[in-house]
Amino acid sequence: MTHPASTFASAVQDGDELAVLHELFATFPSRAEYLLPLLHQVQARVGFVSHAATRAIAAHFNLSRAEVHGVVTFYHDFRGAPVGDTVVQLCMAEACRAVGCVDLEFHLAARRGAPLGEVVPNQRWHAEATYCLGNCALGPSLRIGETVYGRITPERLDELLATHLGANTPGANAPNTDTRNGGATS
Ligand code: FES
Repeated sequence: MTHPASTFASAVQDGDELAVLHELFATFPSRAEYLLPLLHQVQARVGFVSHAATRAIAAHFNLSRAEVHGVVTFYHDFRGAPVGDTVVQLCMAEACRAVGCVDLEFHLAARRGAPLGEVVPNQRWHAEATYCLGNCALGPSLRIGETVYGRITPERLDELLATHLGANTPGANAPNTDTRNGGATS
C-alpha cells in the first residue's frame, strides 16, 4: 500500500518524519504483522512516535488510531514524545527490587526533578524505568545509552550521571530533593 504525500503530509508536519514514513510505508506491507517492525523503525529513526505518525500508521494498516496508540503505549520501547539525547533506564524488575532499586528510583527522580518516565521539555536527558536488563546477579542495574552498569548505589549513580551528562547538564548535579534521607547530597 502506498500513500501519496497529500494523504498524510497535512498531519505529519516534520519533514524528516514525513520522509521516514514515506519510506517505511513503501517498504512494509499493510499487514498487521508489520506494525511492530514499522514502529521500531520510526522509534529508531525519528526518536519517538508522534500523534501525527500514529494517525498515518493507523491509516496504513487500516487500524484505528486507538489501536496503534495502544501498541505504542504498551511497549516500553516506544515513546510518544521526543526525549533528551541520553536515556537512563533504571531496572525496576524483581531481582533489582530486592536489592534497593526503589531507593534509587527516588534518588534518580530527585536528580532530574521529575518522576521516572515523565518527559521534561528541553532536558538533555531522560530517565525511565525498565524491566530486566539481563544483569540480575549484579543488581541494582542501570543502563545509560547502550551500556549496562551493575551494583548501583546513589553515589555510583551520581558519578555515572556526571560522567555521561557532564557537570553543566541541568539536573545532573542538582541538589538532592529526596527528603526521605533528609535531602542529603552524596
Ligand atoms: S531484574 Fe534487574 S537486571 Fe534483571
